[in-house]
Amino acid sequence: MNAFWHYVSVALAAIVLSGCGVPHGQPNKGSEVLAPNEVLDFGTLYAQNCAGCHGAEGRGGAAIALANPVYLAIADDAAVRKVIANGARGTAMPAFAENAGGMLTDKQVDFITSEIRSRWGQRGILDAANPPFYAAKSTGDAQRGKVAYKTYCEACHGLGGRGGAKGSAITDHSFLALVSDQGLRTIVITGRPELGAPDWRANISGKPMTDQEVTDVVAWLASRRVQNSGQLYSGSNYLQHKESDDAE
Ligand code: HEC
Ligand code: HEC
Repeated sequence: MNAFWHYVSVALAAIVLSGCGVPHGQPNKGSEVLAPNEVLDFGTLYAQNCAGCHGAEGRGGAAIALANPVYLAIADDAAVRKVIANGARGTAMPAFAENAGGMLTDKQVDFITSEIRSRWGQRGILDAANPPFYAAKSTGDAQRGKVAYKTYCEACHGLGGRGGAKGSAITDHSFLALVSDQGLRTIVITGRPELGAPDWRANISGKPMTDQEVTDVVAWLASRRVQNSGQLYSGSNYLQHKESDDAE
């Protein structure tokens, strides 16, 4: 073979090798497989870790929609990050941070937190709305909460929260056993727009709930949980409620 043809065949072989004929185990250029803890692609991280419960594109599923600008206006990054890192005890929300037993690095947790806001938040959406605080500022009063429930919720969720024409049962054991007090508070404030549940302004038109009413209605719901505490599953949330009472 003369030098020219030798050159051409080597060049062809190189092209073939670098194209579809990649030797087994070697990645194509641009598609290197990253170790799971190096992934910083939101679509991948969200789909693999969150979508199963919070729905595709953050649109909600068994758990609340994260692509809800009202939610993101009420919960700041610190609050959102804390739940992603540590989970919500006694509920299905797992801890994702490595130092809390999860699989994601601090960098990945930070990244998910900031991407959620930049993709799904809407700056200024609650300007002038004077929303209730994300976290309760005081211990609620279950008696007052019962009154607030009648005023704002009963028309949909029925007598005693046992379910009605326009809303499911929210005082039954199986629901309360798996939701935290903060989880209840978040839903009362932000609603679940993806399911037609109103936010704190819209239970009764023109009569937004006050921060205290939100706190009280959650205390009333939580008191229904305590009443059921002898039953299966409810132990962890009963404890959680006792502890948060003690902490307040
Ligand atoms: C196995 C189901 C499940 C998975 C997977 C899951 N979540 Fe959750 N998540 C929940 C549930 C249930 C709650 C409500 C917990 C409660 O009652 O406080 C929740 C709560 C949250 C909250 C707090 C809402 C609030 O009240 O402020 C955030 C933020 C959140 N999840 C983000 C995520 C992100 C981001 C991922 C993926 C990295 C994820 N979740 C994966 C079930 C899940
Ligand atoms: C206009 C009707 C309506 C009113 C008023 C209303 N809700 Fe709802 N609520 C819904 C709908 C619809 C859903 C979503 C589907 C379902 O669970 O029934 C929902 C969901 C919920 C959930 C989550 C249930 C679950 O299974 O995830 C809670 C908790 C809740 N509401 C509490 C309240 C409280 C407390 C009030 C009063 C402060 C209230 N709601 C007022 C219609 C309403």
